[in-house]
Amino acid sequence: MDSQISIAPKPVLETIDYYMVGISKLDGFEKPIKLSSNESALGMSPMAIEAGMKSIKRGHLYPEVDTARLAAAIGASYRLNPKRMAFGPGSDELLQRIVNAFAGPGEELIHSKNAYMQFPIYAKLAGASPVAADDADFSYSVDAILQQVGDRTRIVLLANPDNPSGTYLSGSEIRRLHQHLPGSVLLIIDAAYEEYAQVDDYESGTQLVHEFDNVIVTRTFSKVHGMAGLRLGWCYGPEWVVELITKIGPSFPVNCVAYSAGIASIEDAEFTEKVLAHNEQWIHTLTSEFNQLGLTTYPSQTNFLLVGFPLDCGRSAAETNHYLNSNGIIPRQFAVPDYLDKLRFTVGTDAEMYKTIDVMQQFMRSA
Ligand SMILES: Cc1ncc(COP(=O)(O)O)c(C=O)c1O
Repeated sequence: MDSQISIAPKPVLETIDYYMVGISKLDGFEKPIKLSSNESALGMSPMAIEAGMKSIKRGHLYPEVDTARLAAAIGASYRLNPKRMAFGPGSDELLQRIVNAFAGPGEELIHSKNAYMQFPIYAKLAGASPVAADDADFSYSVDAILQQVGDRTRIVLLANPDNPSGTYLSGSEIRRLHQHLPGSVLLIIDAAYEEYAQVDDYESGTQLVHEFDNVIVTRTFSKVHGMAGLRLGWCYGPEWVVELITKIGPSFPVNCVAYSAGIASIEDAEFTEKVLAHNEQWIHTLTSEFNQLGLTTYPSQTNFLLVGFPLDCGRSAAETNHYLNSNGIIPRQFAVPDYLDKLRFTVGTDAEMYKTIDVMQQFMRSA
């Protein structure tokens, strides 16, 4: 080793643990049932696949820098202003970019303690301090978040609906939160699962963007559009903010396959409806089947269900995970204290769901 070299990363980076992505392989199973990463059970729209396949032939060229065509398609579908959109390779990257732009050393980002586990990591990467607010049994508590707001707060970041809990904050609660935030605080709403939210009192954060200048929303093609592997996310905010986010982002924010597939997917409303109907039916069925086995379920407005294993149900989350794995099924297990008695199940195909319920019944009933 060259003794004159003494490079070192920023000390804060040593405090960041690996974000644990769901496992996807099981020894002895060629095609395990992977219910660990909230991917879409029905995959991509056939129209999106076709558009993506055509685009790959242009893979030797840099993609379109101008994202106007994609923005126009999203704008037409969701009735939003294309000028308020910025794009990136997944909403994770955009969230990181936004946090980095608005918080730094000596400043704070408030998140909810059991919410999306990347949030504190984004704060640390920006050199800011994450502050975890309490929650109310895995639902956001607006009062607990507001209690944490102080002079150093720059960002409040929440996922609505949330992952891993699947719960949501109603439009009136989000508005109450926003109303009590100082104008110097940016409210970021990570709406990765918004399309799945079917309850009447869910309100899209994009409406808040139209009304207030300190709100930004992130969205993704990874969930309902089934394009997790292509990496396409977007955000919706004040024009000057999205211009800034675009300026500090990658030169080519969207690859050519994701670009064309994204437009085709947005235009295939029929396929999206099919995905949502499939999801709603299985969230309902999984909830009732798991409840009948003595398990706790958290009301989900997403494509997954968080399941609790109370002491009297006869089995622990860890041993259930082990048994499911030995049957070729991978739910999501979390190594954080509040989640040790829980597993999360993504909605899969019909066959995957029947098998999962069957294996769960065998295991729970033999306790
Ligand atoms: C709440 C939440 N936000 C953001 C993401 C990241 O999504 P993307 O694939 O767009 O980076 C996920 C992915 O699971 C998520 O659950």
